[in-house]
Amino acid sequence: MNVLEAIQQRRAVRLFSEQPVPTDVIEQILRAGMRAQSSKNTQPWLFVVVRERETLAALSKLGKFAGHVAGANFAVCYVGTKQATWNSFDLGQAAAQMQLAAHELGVGSCIAAMYDEAGAKALLGVPDDHNFFCVISFGYPSPEHEPLVMGGRKPLDEAVRWEKF
Ligand SMILES: Cc1cc2nc3c(=O)[nH]c(=O)nc-3n(C[C@H](O)[C@H](O)[C@H](O)COP(=O)(O)O)c2cc1C
Repeated sequence: MNVLEAIQQRRAVRLFSEQPVPTDVIEQILRAGMRAQSSKNTQPWLFVVVRERETLAALSKLGKFAGHVAGANFAVCYVGTKQATWNSFDLGQAAAQMQLAAHELGVGSCIAAMYDEAGAKALLGVPDDHNFFCVISFGYPSPEHEPLVMGGRKPLDEAVRWEKF
């Protein structure tokens, strides 16, 4: 699979099989994220990997649309150092690279926004000088997984202006 194919094909996966994802595959996914560019190469991130079922279930209750986290094989929590001005941009790029790498490796994924950031920080012991941005569920897709109908993207003409706004 080449990069363009992966970008075109990848859809959010919210239903996972029980097949465990081997640790070396998880590490490949993490390394792909850590290859992301960042402002001044500050790499202002910490990725907390959660595999314990109880913690996954607890995280799934901290977002309005985070139910899929409970059934993930593992989740990555995206934590940024607050003093880095561009940290949300940088972590977003790391997250996207992990999701694309996972797709290449046959692993599905979906973001879950943490509406209760304080609760998520308390659960994982994240200190005050860090932001807790989101959780991404990962796992091999369940045979019953169906991408949501609300996929698709705006046409180029709607999202792109040439030369001036
Ligand atoms: C910042 C951000 C927050 C998101 N939060 C959630 C969420 O809380 N729950 C969820 O199920 N999906 C969440 N998503 C996934 C989007 O719903 C999904 O990327 C979008 O619907 C496109 O899906 P598709 O790639 O399958 O077409 C989030 C995505 C982003 C980028």
